Amino acid sequence: MEIRKAVIPAAGWGTRFLPATKVIPKEMLPLADKPMIQHIVEEAVSSGIEQIIIVTSSGKSAMENHFDRSFELEYILEQKGEEGLLGEVRRLAELANICYIRQREHLGLGHAILAAREVVGDEPFAVFLPDDIFDAEPPLIKQMLEVYRHYEGSVIALWRVAEEDTKRYGIIKPKQVEERVYQVLDMVEKPGPADAPSDLAILGRYILTPEIFEALRRTLPDKRGEIQLTDGLVRLLGQQAIYGYEFEGVYYDAGKPLGLLKASVALALKHPEMGAEIKDYLQKLIADL
Ligand code: UTP
Repeated sequence: MEIRKAVIPAAGWGTRFLPATKVIPKEMLPLADKPMIQHIVEEAVSSGIEQIIIVTSSGKSAMENHFDRSFELEYILEQKGEEGLLGEVRRLAELANICYIRQREHLGLGHAILAAREVVGDEPFAVFLPDDIFDAEPPLIKQMLEVYRHYEGSVIALWRVAEEDTKRYGIIKPKQVEERVYQVLDMVEKPGPADAPSDLAILGRYILTPEIFEALRRTLPDKRGEIQLTDGLVRLLGQQAIYGYEFEGVYYDAGKPLGLLKASVALALKHPEMGAEIKDYLQKLIADL
């Protein structure tokens, strides 16, 4: 079955970005030349996704406005003869078929995905965590779709981490089935190095079969009262095979200020208009140290 829908959970508090995120949703912070959420929506569209479900919470309406028409702004740009900007602003409203679901309580990533159940329905779907940024060609979900088509099971993105970093991620117990592809035998959420079953960490791109919804519904909250996606996936493992794909490309943890800054610099260096200038600037800055 084709993957037509994507869920973007964006209902978190973004506490690591405070005070910037006191009023502005984390997903609206700029990454190089546009908001993080726009990068993600464009990535989904270029991966062939037809419908996007953004899970939001109170105080996040800036995202909805970003992908909507703004007649007042368009009028002003028209008056000023800013044709380029006008086109760009209008394009945003045409970018994708997006709908929004409210996660009414902040009860974890698994709970946020469960909120999209009715809209996704009984079909496999993709999940994009908006603060995990990947510089990959073809886009990571496209790479993962190949694995999904071949094995016909859920696929999660994997990345090798240093021993001291296992405690920050979900870590899998792998059985390699081909180059870069693993069958997941087990998963542990944020284990210390002594308990980590491998160095393969789960990152924020998933292709999930619809059975995940029932698995999440039956998943109990963790110690912090949150329903974790990893716990739902472990439950799903008892029912069907899950695969992991060690992707080709670069990953940035843009969920924290330093990661967002690194991703911004890296993307700006590749940007057709910003690239040369930012390179010069960085070289001069470093030379003057
Ligand atoms: P994070 O914990 O990384 O993001 O959740 P956060 O909660 O926004 O940020 P911090 O930790 O307070 O700095 C991973 C993803 O899951 C979403 C977040 O929006 C983020 O995209 N999420 C998390 C929800 O949608 N709902 C939740 O209840 C929790």
